[in-house]
Amino acid sequence: MRISSLELSNFRNYASASVSFEDGLNVLYGKNASGKTNLLESIYLCSIFKSPRTTKDKELVKIGEKSATVKLVVERKFARHTIYLNIDAQGHKKVAVDGLPINRAGELLGVLGVVFFSPDEMKLVKESPAERRRFLDVGLSQQQKSYFIALQRYNKTLKQKNNLLKDYRGSANIDDMLDVWDAGLAREGALIIKRRVEYIATLNDAAGKFHSAISGQKEQLKLSYESGMSDAAQGEDIEKLLLGAIKAARSKDKELGFSTVGPHRDDIKIELDGKDSRKFASQGQQRTIALAMKLGEVLIYRDGIGESPVLLLDDVLSELDENRQNLLLKMTRGFQTFLTCTEFDLPYPATKFLINDGSAKKM
Ligand SMILES: Nc1ncnc2c1ncn2[C@@H]1O[C@H](COP(=O)(O)OP(=O)(O)OP(=O)(O)O)[C@@H](O)[C@H]1O
Ligand SMILES: [Mg+2]
Repeated sequence: MRISSLELSNFRNYASASVSFEDGLNVLYGKNASGKTNLLESIYLCSIFKSPRTTKDKELVKIGEKSATVKLVVERKFARHTIYLNIDAQGHKKVAVDGLPINRAGELLGVLGVVFFSPDEMKLVKESPAERRRFLDVGLSQQQKSYFIALQRYNKTLKQKNNLLKDYRGSANIDDMLDVWDAGLAREGALIIKRRVEYIATLNDAAGKFHSAISGQKEQLKLSYESGMSDAAQGEDIEKLLLGAIKAARSKDKELGFSTVGPHRDDIKIELDGKDSRKFASQGQQRTIALAMKLGEVLIYRDGIGESPVLLLDDVLSELDENRQNLLLKMTRGFQTFLTCTEFDLPYPATKFLINDGSAKKM
């Protein structure tokens, strides 16, 4: 798929901008703080409905303004959609697709598919488990609405349960209430775990190939799902296993005041020749693995959906050596790609846009 145009008004440092894009490589170049990442962020928002860098959506509105809008046109194999996003000064977001208001974020997912590469994403291996869960959740939600819905329900129930556990002071009998929450958590949680296990199995193959191509080494990359619940990967009846594990943790959870077992605590286990890369891999090795995982995400999306996602490459070239830069750029052929950099000196054919103080101009 491809983005054909983008209009911003009062978004971050853009008062008003309108740009049309081309197939292939679109390079956004300009000085620091000119608005390159802001532009990618606006595209990301139209896909995931969340910013990749803030949870405070009111920051997206240009300082001093009442609301921001983003209008994006995406051309897919068989359809063309206009996504219209409005964010007010309180940070409330509204979306419409093709003129029809959308009430739930889940409805927007799947209209525009993106994979985001950034220096932060390149830290995926050494970051906390929460970042790796986010990687899974973003990848899966873009492909499967049912996953996103299960995740939303799970998180809502988890919040209610944690509130109950937090307020619990050992006096009232809360077991009946917990039974209800736990049944819901096990049901939604089982679906989440099952899909994550499948996703990681596919990712393991794709990322493994990229990893050997990038590193040129014989070390074997292995990705697997790490769950606080034993045998999550093998168990046929994950729901039953999960419910058992949640119940077994109940007295501990009551003591601690929060829920300690379930997909909200799980992780991706990453190994190189059997050694835990989250702890032992060098910085370079960690970056190579992260790059391989992101490239894997691209292929899984493309093969799953049957269309190419749009690639957003924010400032990643500076993070990579020449070899890895070339590999990444070679890989982006056949995908509409947005690449930000401070100076334009790429030996590749590209459409160039000069970003300057909240304006974007095709050069
Ligand atoms: N809500 C806002 N209102 C006005 N300006 C904002 C807002 N949010 C961010 N900015 C401004 O946008 C600029 C940063 O833009 P951005 O992060 O896109 O820069 P960049 O071109 O990616 O720079 P770099 O090359 O350093 O990554 C900063 O000057 C920042 O102050
Ligand atoms: Mg930037």
